[in-house]
Amino acid sequence: MKYSRIAGTGSYLPQRVLTNAELETMVDTSDQWIRERTGIERRHIAGESETTADLAEAAARNAMDMAGVTAKDIDLVIVATTTADCVFPSVACLLQNRLGITNSSPAFDVQAVCAGFVYALGIANSMLRAGSGQTVLVIGAETFSRILNWEDRNTCVLFGDGAGAVVLKASDEPGIHSTHLHADGRYSELLHVPEGVSRGYAEMQQQAYVQMRGSEVFKMAVSKLSEVVDETLQANNIEKSDLDWLVPHQANLRIIKATARKLSMSMDNVVVTVQDHGNTSAASIPMALDVAVRDGRIKPGEKLLLEGFGGGFTWGSALVTF
Ligand code: COA
Repeated sequence: MKYSRIAGTGSYLPQRVLTNAELETMVDTSDQWIRERTGIERRHIAGESETTADLAEAAARNAMDMAGVTAKDIDLVIVATTTADCVFPSVACLLQNRLGITNSSPAFDVQAVCAGFVYALGIANSMLRAGSGQTVLVIGAETFSRILNWEDRNTCVLFGDGAGAVVLKASDEPGIHSTHLHADGRYSELLHVPEGVSRGYAEMQQQAYVQMRGSEVFKMAVSKLSEVVDETLQANNIEKSDLDWLVPHQANLRIIKATARKLSMSMDNVVVTVQDHGNTSAASIPMALDVAVRDGRIKPGEKLLLEGFGGGFTWGSALVTF
């Protein structure tokens, strides 16, 4: 049986930092409200000409360096994003060209909003195990700042831009043990951007912004993440205490703490970047992973639980031996 393992991680944050203090001058909010309700202190915002593919490329190059692979080794590129540069081609195809991958291997985007990275990881793992590749680039990259209404305090304080990447390699030892992916389209209107290409470009310019019923999303996120955590432990026949690290989607510190409590896990074993990154949607999990790998907290052989929840609703998890 062939498995896939994470051979390298990478991330990239745009230079511009937007603090809570600055947001106080833009909408009726306060640093105290944002910190207490979300844990967010600052977030990074892409420059005017900086696109999702730019962030993705920088993160991908970092991950490839750590894994010691070059363009000719990559035989699949999957990018999780909700904020692609253009309608088409996909960010994955743009990236394949920029990285100089010319071996005609497949490249495509996955759209599952904040659960996008676990979706992409699940697909990459399945394809690799089925024999469609040896070395796979999986990226979560977003410029969510472009789909925010900067006059809506309910949403504009929550999100940020960034990109995270992993290189997966075929292996005889299990790295990714299992992934668990879910969706429930009945709740789509609780968290959505209600306009888009097929509903007309004119409207798209006017209203293509994130709209969210925050407290309802919050309750569903806590409940579905709790379920998927149980599902992951049961599927792998392991105990909570077998986990070394929780690497959660970074939407809200209170949601992260609820999942940690569910796992009886000390916050010392939870990777938290929400204070510095805000919610970067599909980019948040691989960025958090990269931070904790590079600062030496996550070590080879340790067991990680990755989980995310987002619009759709979509949610999912992965159990990984790093
Ligand atoms: N600054 C100050 N007040 C704000 C505010 C802001 N930025 N945003 C909302 N408020 C106000 C609301 O208007 C409301 O006022 P009211 O009581 O006078 O109507 C009050 O704060 C409470 O709002 P509520 O939405 O009930 O707060 P909350 O405790 O649920 O926290 C969120 C709001 C958005 C932080 C929280 O619901 C959340 O994190 N939800 C999930 C978000 C998420 O995970 N989204 C993405 C999934 S990937």
